[in-house]
Amino acid sequence: MTTPGPLQLAILISGRGSNMAAIARACAGGEIDARVRMVISERPGVAGLDTARAMGLESRTLPWRGLNDRLRFERALDAALADARADLIVLAGFMRILSREFVEARAGRILNIHPSLLPLHRGLHTHRRVLEAGERAHGASVHFVTAELDGGPVILQSRVAVLPDDTEATLSARVQATEHIIYPRVIGWLADGRLAWREQRPWLDGRPLEVPLVEEFDVNRGS
Ligand code: GRF
Repeated sequence: MTTPGPLQLAILISGRGSNMAAIARACAGGEIDARVRMVISERPGVAGLDTARAMGLESRTLPWRGLNDRLRFERALDAALADARADLIVLAGFMRILSREFVEARAGRILNIHPSLLPLHRGLHTHRRVLEAGERAHGASVHFVTAELDGGPVILQSRVAVLPDDTEATLSARVQATEHIIYPRVIGWLADGRLAWREQRPWLDGRPLEVPLVEEFDVNRGS
């Protein structure tokens, strides 16, 4: 984070973009000292691109074409990030896996949000897996991205109770409402210099963050 002034964000999406919109709202409302420079989708025509346009954000589609397209995609992404002069890459429902080389060259400059209480339930279909396992708590985790999928150090988690009559839809809606609160918050900490990446780990308020912070959410509290 070398540039003075607001933290410059590039937000990568693959679909709906509700986290992107929540972050953009927090920037526009002055809640966090950051600015969305560019929204990049690896899929054409997704709802998140319409939302970005409606919010007046610059957006680009960089299609990921099939299984062996990572190298070409990452070159195009690198050029787009340079154009955007982005300090921070924010993965927000971005459904592709970036290479070890790409991620390690940007250590501490890529964040992700994952819909589970990591290290539980890495990967897909987290809400379904929580219900099938009969777990009583669920949530989302904001973490720095490392080469290990969903394995980078977690900064902040939201925790919600799983209710007896929850379905995948009700549970995911409740968790996603908390994502819209915790993701902008972590970006704000980075923008304010409270959160930093040093010695290959996160530091908060001048101390290494040994365990994630956890915020409990009431079942009725949404975004
Ligand atoms: C979120 O649930 C996030 O945790 C996961 O993908 C979903 C993206 O939703 N990584 P949206 O595109 O931000 O609405």
